[in-house]
Formats: sequence, C-alpha cells, structure tokens
Amino acid sequence: MVRFKKILVTGGAGYVGSALVPALLKVGYTVRALDLYLYGDPLKDVATNPQLEQVKGDLRDQVVLDKAVQGCDAVIHLACVSNDPSFELDPALGKSINYDAFFGLMKAVRKARVQRLIYASSSSVYGLREEPDVREETPCTPLTDYSKYKLMCEDALRADGLGGAEYVIVRPATVCGYAPRMRLDLSVNILTIHALVKKQITVFGGSQLRPNINILDMVDVYKLLLEAPKEKIQGDVFNAGYENLSLSRIAEMVKNQLQDPTITIKVEPTNDLRSYHVNSDKIARILGFRARHTVEQAIESIHKAFQEGKFQDPLTNPLYYNIKTMQQAKLGG
Ligand SMILES: NC(=O)c1ccc[n+]([C@@H]2O[C@H](COP(=O)([O-])OP(=O)(O)OC[C@H]3O[C@@H](n4cnc5c(N)ncnc54)[C@H](O)[C@@H]3O)[C@@H](O)[C@H]2O)c1
Repeated sequence: MVRFKKILVTGGAGYVGSALVPALLKVGYTVRALDLYLYGDPLKDVATNPQLEQVKGDLRDQVVLDKAVQGCDAVIHLACVSNDPSFELDPALGKSINYDAFFGLMKAVRKARVQRLIYASSSSVYGLREEPDVREETPCTPLTDYSKYKLMCEDALRADGLGGAEYVIVRPATVCGYAPRMRLDLSVNILTIHALVKKQITVFGGSQLRPNINILDMVDVYKLLLEAPKEKIQGDVFNAGYENLSLSRIAEMVKNQLQDPTITIKVEPTNDLRSYHVNSDKIARILGFRARHTVEQAIESIHKAFQEGKFQDPLTNPLYYNIKTMQQAKLGG
C-alpha cells in the first residue's frame, strides 16, 4: 500500500539506490533522486519515466538540499562515502558528507514538513562483538570512522528528533547481487567476479562470519519501512541481515553456483578475523519482514549480468570500486 506519494532518495544513483529507485517507481511512487553521480548514470533505463526527477547535486550544499527535500513526503537517506577505505582516504571529506551534512538534511526535513525519514545506518556500528547474536539493543562499539559517524547520525536523530516528522533507522548487513550501479568491492560480489574473470577466488582467513542481504531484499526493506504505520517504526532501529556466512562458505557457494570445475579457492592468512552474527528477528516480529532472496540468487544475478556483457573491465574499472572512484573524485573537504 502506498502511503506517501513523493519520495526523495539521496544516493539514488548508488548501488542500492539504482535498484531501489526503479522499484519505487514500479509500485507507483513519484521519486526524486539526489546524487553526485560519482558512479555514472545507472538510472538511465528509467530516466524518461515522468514520475522520476533526477537531481545532480551535493548534499553538503544546504540550498541544494532544501530544494531537493521540498514537496517530498518521505526521504530515504542513502548518500554517503560508503565504506571504510573510501572514508579513510580523506576523513575530513568523509565527515563532511556522512556527518556534517546530516544536520543540514534534518534541518531541511523539518522545514519542508516531510513526514518520514528513513536513515541507512550500517550493521558495522556494532563493531567486533563477542555475543553469538547481535541484536538492536546490543551496545555499539564501532571500530572505524565510517561506522562511528553512522552511529553518530543515529544519535543525532535520537537527540534532536525531527519535529513533527517520523524517523526510522535501518542497519543493513553487506548487500549482494546485481544492480545497475554495481559495486564489486563487497564480499559476495567480489568473490563472484573473481571466480568469473580470474577463475580463482582468494579468501583472506575464511572463518569470519559475515551477515549478508540480497539487494532485492534490501529494496523490499526500504519499501516496507515506507509503508509501515508510524506506531510500528517511529524512532526505532532495525537490523536487516540474513545468511550469516563465513567467507570460506561464500567462496564454496560461488564455486558451486557457477558450476565451473576450473575455479580454485586460495586461502591466504589475515589479521582481520572480525566476525559477527547479526540477528534480524525484530524486523520480522514487528513488521513481518521475511527475506525472500538468497545469496546464491545474488551470485547467479551477477553471473547472468556477466554473461550478458554488463561489466566493462570488471577488475579494474573504478566505477565498480568506491575507493578507486573516490581517489579520482575531486570533492573538496
Ligand atoms: N552496500 C552495502 O553493503 C551497505 C551495507 C550497510 C549499509 N549501507 C549503507 O547504504 C547506503 C547505500 O549504500 P550503497 O552501497 O548504495 O553506496 P554507494 O556508494 O553505491 O552509493 C552512495 C551514493 O551517494 C552518492 N554521494 C556521495 N556523496 C554525495 C554527496 N555529497 N552528495 C550527493 N550524493 C553523494 C554517490 O554518488 C553514490 O551514488 C549507504 O548509506 C551505506 O552506508 C550499505
């Protein structure tokens, strides 16, 4: 059921955004995507849809932000410098986008009388935990600046609120599967592309447990968070992670799924044995969410896209690797 009509998706031309925006259009929403388009033009297939407006702009500019939010009923905030290495490349830049600009967004939301803000946090806010099951009430001990600022935005929302607007926070696991803006710097995706191109998967360590979510389920989570009644989501936080798998298991899944006996798995030692297991019972219990797509299906979607020639120079093209693009982007601090 569509409750809101017009949705602003910041980061709408990113990996998750490029799958989410077409899906929102399909169910009848009017969508405005605000993005710097750092990774090309992934919304080109829906560009002529009259229900879509694309805005190329920087969310650190309050004028751009105010204008983008104007007239929208809900905002899904995805835009950011979205992994540790890209953030660490230029911490001042990362902070300015991921944290400082968030206050501008909250201000714009209050001013424009938006009804709901959905904030994309990250399951990395938990850091390294001993608990077998990391739940929403588990204390957060973020290990990196990227994760720390994700959590600080959550705290800013809790502290300041949004006036009359509702908000909800989602902490996604690592997303996997094909999307028009492809990221090949995420675990399942990178292991799959290495198997396809190099016929060799290198696993560093291997025993580390990591939670995953198929991008199609990620899209469904955002759709559900738009539809859910206020009393079920207001001010709350939800994990979204399924199939907690070790890297070795993911490598085996890739090899099996691609059914290519020439693919080899090489194990290298690593100091990074961070392991965590995310529990997502809450979103099932409160909102009835059930993941419907598997990691195997994500692997298959990348395989299919590869066979259809949808990747250009997948191992070297900066468009697929946030760190490589951010090294080239001149965004100013
Ligand atoms: N992909 C994952 O595995 C994952 C896991 C947990 C959380 N998340 C969160 O989900 C969100 C989306 O992730 P993603 O994988 O799609 O990332 P992404 O890097 O593909 O997309 C981010 C988008 O934000 C845009 N952007 C960056 N700075 C901007 C600025 N100053 N103004 C306007 N646009 C700007 C970029 O151009 C990019 O298109 C992020 O907030 C991320 O932290 C993602």
